Formats: sequence, structure tokens, C-alpha cells
Amino acid sequence: MTTPRFDELDLSLDAMRALQLARLKAALAHAYANQAPYRAKCQATGIHPDDLRELADLGRFPFTLKADLREAYPFGMFAVPREHCVRVHASSGTTGRPTVVGYTAGDIALWGDLMARSMYVGGARPGDIVHNAYGYGLFTGGLGAHYGAERLGCTVVPMSGGFGERQIQLIREFGAQVLMLTPSYMMALADEFDRQGVDPRATAIRVGFFGAEPWTEGMRVQIEQRLGIDAIDLYGLSEVMGPGVACEFATTKDGPTIWEDHFYPEIVDPDSGEPVADGEPGELVLTSLTKEALPVIRYRTRDLTRLLPGSATVMRRMAKITGRSDDMLIVRGVNLFPSQVEEQILRDPVLSGHYVIELSRTGALDDLLVRVEPRTELSADAVGRAAADLSQRLKGMCGLSADIEIAAVGAIERSMGKARRVIDRRPKG
Ligand code: DLL
Repeated sequence: MTTPRFDELDLSLDAMRALQLARLKAALAHAYANQAPYRAKCQATGIHPDDLRELADLGRFPFTLKADLREAYPFGMFAVPREHCVRVHASSGTTGRPTVVGYTAGDIALWGDLMARSMYVGGARPGDIVHNAYGYGLFTGGLGAHYGAERLGCTVVPMSGGFGERQIQLIREFGAQVLMLTPSYMMALADEFDRQGVDPRATAIRVGFFGAEPWTEGMRVQIEQRLGIDAIDLYGLSEVMGPGVACEFATTKDGPTIWEDHFYPEIVDPDSGEPVADGEPGELVLTSLTKEALPVIRYRTRDLTRLLPGSATVMRRMAKITGRSDDMLIVRGVNLFPSQVEEQILRDPVLSGHYVIELSRTGALDDLLVRVEPRTELSADAVGRAAADLSQRLKGMCGLSADIEIAAVGAIERSMGKARRVIDRRPKG
């Protein structure tokens, strides 16, 4: 197999917009003709694919919601006969039915190409050994990274999550140059390196691709310092494809570049759904331009970010995701995202990225407890100082008084995939 070429990265802005418009017309026509639930939505609002003359007209089309996929469970949103799908994935679906996504052979090939592109711009190269600790299975992380790494011409070690000791052993003995895993699992493995008395900076790892959950710049600094690597932000979601919808360039590390030749981005006001200008914060909405089995028109990702101008290419970037609109906590009337808490925690070099936010209620009042582990065991004095400082920083940031518990090293549950950052014990409703 030949090494992929990445010529699309050199397109001019005019050529990119022309390509997007042509592809968008075809994508709308495909969804309208073959995806009955979406056609019904268009008919209900009296809009037809022929009404799209320029890219801005997309804003007049209805959204696709996660609920649409749930209602069509399992295969009702597929725009090709199910027999033409070579694979399905599904979201974990903590509540109710999972959402099922399908891929034709062409979709799988495209996904491999875009993951290969992502890995290439992030600094992976053909011939590298890629240690893939994203979970294999219904989750798109494992197989998505796997196919991309193979497509790029790398040697994949299909580890999946778990087996901390074994992970370290194989990273060292096989000499992996590239790591793929969630940032929270990376922190857990970094501890495992320490526990085994192995210096991760002495391994061959050069770069890691981190995604599937929000992570802050502070977390990037910790990972890069502890591992001595480039920590690259990799974004994606199963409904739109999986990992590889957007990825950071190693040369700029300024937010994931959205692969706009295949996914058209918009930002909308999360409440009104009205489009906002580039640079303004809001919810990311993505339209697939080339997918066959499951085209998504104006998919509401719930991810909160901003669109930034292209830096390494004409394709736009997204700012680091601050959270999901459905992950926002309302504590005593104040809106709070776990990533804001993480940011404040990691301002203190003695604190680690292992933390959990616990909410409970006494009487009418919400109680906010932040449990966080130090990097290494601290003296009682240092514990008191770290707790008081963090409490003050949180108060300064959002006005909320929080109880801080500096937990013992290892006391907070480790994740092998997406970390659970919030335990909400407040009565519902
Ligand atoms: O998490 C796909 C993926 C796998 C991306 C591996 C990157 C690496 P889902 O399970 O469908 O798919 O979850 C998608 O995860 O809507 C975001 O809320 C969050 N997410 C994904 N990547 C990032 C990131 C995969 N780089 C949901 N930063 C998305 C912040 C992310 N959040």
C-alpha cells in the first residue's frame, strides 16, 4: 500500500469553498432522498435541497439531533441498505438506547484516510510503532485509531484499555513512538510508569494523540512534561464518524483543525440554535459532506467551542472544547464546567489531574466538593496550603465556595477511557 498523500491541505480558500458547496449539495440530496427521518424534517419546514445555493443557506435547514438517532434505533437513519454497511459502532448510552452508527466500505476507507491525515499532521510518520490504548469495540476510539495508523503505514499494537502493567512493559519493549489514549488514562499510565520506577522520558515515545473527553491546556503541560512528548488534541464523535474529524498540527498546537473538506462546521447559540459568527463561543454543529451510510446534516454535537481561522491550512480550527452543554453543572445558580475546575487544579504544580467533583444538597443549598490527588504525598502543612489555595482560586474564578479534599495518592478511581469527573448526588427534579 502506498503512503497516503495529503494534497487537500494545500487547497486555496476559494477551492475549498467551491469543493464544500459541491459536496454539500450532494450530501443534502443524498440525505433527503435516502434518510426518511431527515426528509420528513425538511418537508415539515418546507425546505428542499434545491434551496441551497450557497454555503450560508445551510443555516435554513433543520438540525439532526442525537434523539433522532435514538428514535430511529437501530438502523432507521441509515441512508443505504443495511447490507451495504460493513460495520456498525454504538455509543455507550448510559441512559436508554445507545445510538447506532453504520459505515459502508467507502466510509471506513475515508475514516482511515482522515485518521491517517490527523496522525500525520500531529507528527506520526510511516514506520512508527503506534501503541493504541483506546478501547476496542463498539466505541469508535480503538478501531478508528487502528485503521488510521495502518493507513499511514505504521505498525499498530492493538492494546485497548486496561492492564496497566502490561501497557508499560509493551511500550518499553516494543519501542512505541506514538501513543493513542484518553488524557485521563494517560495520567493513570504516567503514575504506573512512576510506580514501576520507569522514566517515561527515557522511552521512544515522541507524540501522543489525546481525545474522547475534554482536557485543558494545564493537562497538556502536565502530560508533555511528565512524558517528554508532544500532546496533540484529537477530536471526533461517533455520530459524525469517530476520531479524526479534527486534529491539531504538531507545528502549531493551537486547537484541532477541522477537516472541512469532509465536515462543514457551524457554531450556533446552544439555546436558540441561531448561528453565531466565527470566533464567538457556542455549540459546534457539523454536517458530513461525503459520508454514505449515515450522512448527518447539521448535527448538534453539544460540544462548546469557537471556530478560529485556519493557521496551518485554510481549514478552520476549533478552540479546545470547554465542555458539553449537557455536562454543565448548575451549582447554587452558577454555571460550572468540570474543565474550569481542572484548569484551577492544574495551576498548582503539586496537584495532579486525578480529580472528581461531588455535588450533594443539604436543605436547599448545593454542596460542592472537589476531591483531588496530589502528585506525590504531601506533608499536613502542604495539604492545608494546597486546599486553601485551590478553594481561593475557585472562588475567584466562579464565586463558589467549595470544600476541597486533598485525597491520598491513588485514592481516586482511575479511568481506562473517558473519565467520570462528576458525581451528582443531588435529588433530581
Ligand atoms: O470519543 C471519538 C474519539 C475517540 C475522539 C478517540 C478522539 C479520540 P464518542 O464516544 O461518540 O466518540 O464521544 C464524542 O467526546 O462529542 C466530545 O464531547 C468528546 N470529545 C471527543 N474528542 C474530544 C476532544 C469519541 N479532543 C464526544 N476534546 C464528543 C474534548 C472530546 N472532548
